[in-house]
Amino acid sequence: METLRSIAECRQWRLDNNQATVVLVPTMGALHAGHLALIRKAQEEGDAVMVSIFVNPIQFDDPSDFDDYPLTLDEDLITCAQAGVAAVFVPQREEIYPNGYCTFTEVVGPLTDKLCGGARPGHFRGVATVVLKLLNIIQPQVAVFGEKDLQQVLIIQRMVADLHLPVRLSVGPTVREADGLPLSSRNARLSQESRAKAAALPRGLDKANAAFRDGQSLSMSLVELVYEELLVHPGVEVDYADVVRLADFSEASTAQAGDLLAVAAFVDGVRLIDHILLGGPGLSPSKEG
Ligand code: PAF
Repeated sequence: METLRSIAECRQWRLDNNQATVVLVPTMGALHAGHLALIRKAQEEGDAVMVSIFVNPIQFDDPSDFDDYPLTLDEDLITCAQAGVAAVFVPQREEIYPNGYCTFTEVVGPLTDKLCGGARPGHFRGVATVVLKLLNIIQPQVAVFGEKDLQQVLIIQRMVADLHLPVRLSVGPTVREADGLPLSSRNARLSQESRAKAAALPRGLDKANAAFRDGQSLSMSLVELVYEELLVHPGVEVDYADVVRLADFSEASTAQAGDLLAVAAFVDGVRLIDHILLGGPGLSPSKEG
């Protein structure tokens, strides 16, 4: 496995591999079984998988969240090598955002205004900007993103279509713990006690989904079920819980099958997100990882 630390090295690797179908898995490191599922998906999509590891400062609306983001580069490189990754791109912040940098990419409208976009101003502008940079630098034929960050996936799909980018996007599965909690690099920041509270996110979503299946279609009532499940735990603060139409993120006061019910909550200060598609299967644990 090659570890590429500059854009020049990365471009040279791309030239050396110009016969290969290069598949990019962009990450911010702190790799876990969820990332491994994305790497496996990438290996099905092509023959040279590149993982990028870059904690992108401009997608953090809260500086302390950036400062606390887990950094585990040495372990991540071992994980990638063991998983059969061809190359890891670990760019330096100064090269991605040199002094005087002032160009950003922004998908506008409800897709970025709602849910995490509403709660974290500038977050998706930061994501779209860095993803466009990575796609330009690496020029993969395919890029794999995790379904766990569904809003991010939809925004990147929009950007790729709107800017006619020559890349195909592939979406990898969410990997869940036995109690339904989706794997996330942020879970590493949860104490044992907070970890137990965090399972209220998927539980609340499952309860709302069960109520929807039983005929409750008032979005406000579904959202209340999520709040009820979360707010019994001291130290849990709901950032948002909302039902939107998946196609255009418009408000859905009366829920329909296929609508997105999404939640973000701070569990003892750690921000976690989860979602469910109403009427779909529950958030039972995945067999991955
Ligand atoms: O999902 C992530 O880890 C990040 O948002 C991404 C796509 C790597 C961009 O920094």
